[in-house]
Amino acid sequence: MAKHGGNIQEIAEIHQLDPQKLIDFSANINPLGIPAGVKKVLQAGIEQLVHYPDLRYRDLKAAIAEFHGIRPEQVYASNGAAEAIFMLGKTLPVNRLLLLAPTFVEYEEAFSQQATEFCYFNLEKYDFQWNVADLIQSAKRQKVTGICLCNPNNPTGQLLRQDELLQLLAFCQDNEIKLIVDEAFVDFSEEDQSLVGALNDYSQLFIFRSLTKMFAIPGLRLGYLLTSNQEILAEMEQQTVPWHINTFADLAGQQALKEQEFIKESQQYIKQERAFLVEHLAKFAPAIKCYPSETNYLFFRYTKEDCLQERLLTKNILIRNCDSFKGLSQRYYRIAVKSRPENEALLAALEEIL
Ligand SMILES: Cc1ncc(COP(=O)(O)O)c(C=O)c1O
Repeated sequence: MAKHGGNIQEIAEIHQLDPQKLIDFSANINPLGIPAGVKKVLQAGIEQLVHYPDLRYRDLKAAIAEFHGIRPEQVYASNGAAEAIFMLGKTLPVNRLLLLAPTFVEYEEAFSQQATEFCYFNLEKYDFQWNVADLIQSAKRQKVTGICLCNPNNPTGQLLRQDELLQLLAFCQDNEIKLIVDEAFVDFSEEDQSLVGALNDYSQLFIFRSLTKMFAIPGLRLGYLLTSNQEILAEMEQQTVPWHINTFADLAGQQALKEQEFIKESQQYIKQERAFLVEHLAKFAPAIKCYPSETNYLFFRYTKEDCLQERLLTKNILIRNCDSFKGLSQRYYRIAVKSRPENEALLAALEEIL
């Protein structure tokens, strides 16, 4: 069963489809594509490939630090957020880690590199409408020593707001619980709900960010981890393979973080297209029950017996089947918010099927 979306090559092979013809709603990538400024930097960057990248990625870390108003010493730059997740999983000892269920699968994989025990906060029990008090209750009851939160959560799209995050942070500080927050999709929400502002308040706070979603560069691989915990950062750096980020990603990242206008335009576009999809998906009730989302994907329950993913594949549309996520007893799917013509193609295909 597919562990991730965006696996078009394999799906096309299994179903004997032309991957070029597939519209991929299974990976949550900005439909506006790569910003022009980033493309330009990439094209010009080819001449620099004759040199090794900076071993310490000083310019990249300075750009990340400036973007967030933090210090470069608080940044671990990585080959996609995925690398940072795995390096933290290898380095940070956590005895009992609380995970949302469902959530992005790689946290569990990453922390399985150590003798971590996992506990779960089941979201389906709340019909995916939970609040921070519910999460804290679960953490207390299960006596956890770490909490890993994906905010907004993948695949459900729910976002905890800053006031709730600060409550969670205070609880973690009071109880010496490590707090790991994955903000890979947080920049798609218009209001800033990041916890980066609290980085200096707690040395056991770790935040992942990804540049691959907003700037549409999953093929390039670039992300980072932010923390004020110098001990863990030093250990992660020490265990990292030299030159783990290539020159293109290094240069693209520096430019991407200057693209404030592009980020704003993307947030507005996503908001508009998400509302368009939500409005039209409502017509397919009760077959489809869509949950509120504050990011660039939508999560819905499907109440019919057939496999909607397979039915849509016959129309060259790939959506994410959520069967491989933990904690789901019913059938759910996740779709990316894409461009208007692509969203219309999905709705037209659903109209024919349902
Ligand atoms: C929640 C979440 N975090 C992190 C990642 C990894 O992102 P990256 O492409 O930066 O490695 C993904 C990828 O899908 C994700 O969904």
